[in-house]
Amino acid sequence: MADTNDPSGMKWRIATRAIHGAGGVDPTTGAVSFPIYQTNTFAFKSAEAGARIFAGEEEGYIYTRIGNPTIQGFEKCIALIEGGEHAVAFASGMAATSAAVLAFCNPGSNVVVCQPVYGGTHSLVNDVLPRMGIEARMIDALDIDQVQDSIDDKTGLVWIETPANPTLKIVDIGRLAEVTSASDVPIVVDNTFATPCFQQPLKLGAQIVMHSATKYICGHGDAIGGVLVCPEDFIETIRNDMRREMGGSMSPFNAWLLIRGLKTLAVRMERHASNALKIAEYLTGHPKVERVLYPGLPDHPQHEIALKQMTGFGGMVTFYIRGGRREGATLMNSLKLCILAVSLGDCDTLIEHPASMTHSTYSTEDLAKFDIAENLIRISVGLEDAEDIIDDLEQGLENI
Ligand SMILES: Cc1ncc(COP(=O)(O)O)c(C=O)c1O
Repeated sequence: MADTNDPSGMKWRIATRAIHGAGGVDPTTGAVSFPIYQTNTFAFKSAEAGARIFAGEEEGYIYTRIGNPTIQGFEKCIALIEGGEHAVAFASGMAATSAAVLAFCNPGSNVVVCQPVYGGTHSLVNDVLPRMGIEARMIDALDIDQVQDSIDDKTGLVWIETPANPTLKIVDIGRLAEVTSASDVPIVVDNTFATPCFQQPLKLGAQIVMHSATKYICGHGDAIGGVLVCPEDFIETIRNDMRREMGGSMSPFNAWLLIRGLKTLAVRMERHASNALKIAEYLTGHPKVERVLYPGLPDHPQHEIALKQMTGFGGMVTFYIRGGRREGATLMNSLKLCILAVSLGDCDTLIEHPASMTHSTYSTEDLAKFDIAENLIRISVGLEDAEDIIDDLEQGLENI
């Protein structure tokens, strides 16, 4: 889709925006690769100029925790491809998540969380926030009509993750925006799994987008980062209170790696998705597999919603292996190509066991309630030849 808010005014599409959105050729040197400003602090032209910059009367850089040109290049690009007004980069996805929550909550507030979510997010809202007097209200991602009933005048925000980690449940973002329209509680969408290439939540009625940039945006498994994309109304609180004062800023080097990652995001996502579909189709009907979950498969319970709000279905595939944890462990221990590791969105295929790894912070009851069973395996399908991934899974499944 063509939009108008790109720097060229030429209505760039998403792959072009992701490549050029951080800024063009460096005007001083002609460098084509975005410059890295690996500095902690910035010299002022005079004592008076420094005072004016601190007072907000003059533009200028002060100190990298507060702002840095490389970090701003990354922020500009991600805001552009998500179709948002502003972006604020953080040291990790969890730093961005906690900043979003604390920006809208005080002691006595509550957050409504559509489950499941990444285990770290679950632990933040269930274990950490209650210590600050902030209550977490859990809703099944499929019961969004109930979200409005959980909202009251103390609700700070509604948090959703779609597709959700690890069960790939899909939340209907447009419908959620409709059912919550009576309140002005912001909807925050963790868009890590879909990326802006496949889903743009702000266009569907959400107010804020969060990314663990560590994942597909980085793409190569070599930089941790997070980002919030938000409207003008929230930028002061998020940038100043939540990042400048709380201090979870991104490093310039990571911002530089993430700008580089963004340049290939669109083409990588196409390959992740086509490989994932092949893996999902291979696993479907395999005698040692009970059930496969991939939003692109017609039998996914929310396939119709996925079709409505996504332009691609991503690179994550989960499946329930026949048997239990032991059979899953045998498979994972037998693999020669797929790497037994958490994280996702890398070039390399990664495989893990959510119940004992990424989602081990869930209680036994919550694991059961949100279908994160002992026999659930999650694959982040990489960019290798799909046939090689399939061959590896085949030899691993034969070992069971
Ligand atoms: C969906 C999702 N959101 C957020 C996070 C947290 O991101 P980070 O590890 O960059 O702090 C993760 C990490 O795995 C994730 O999978």
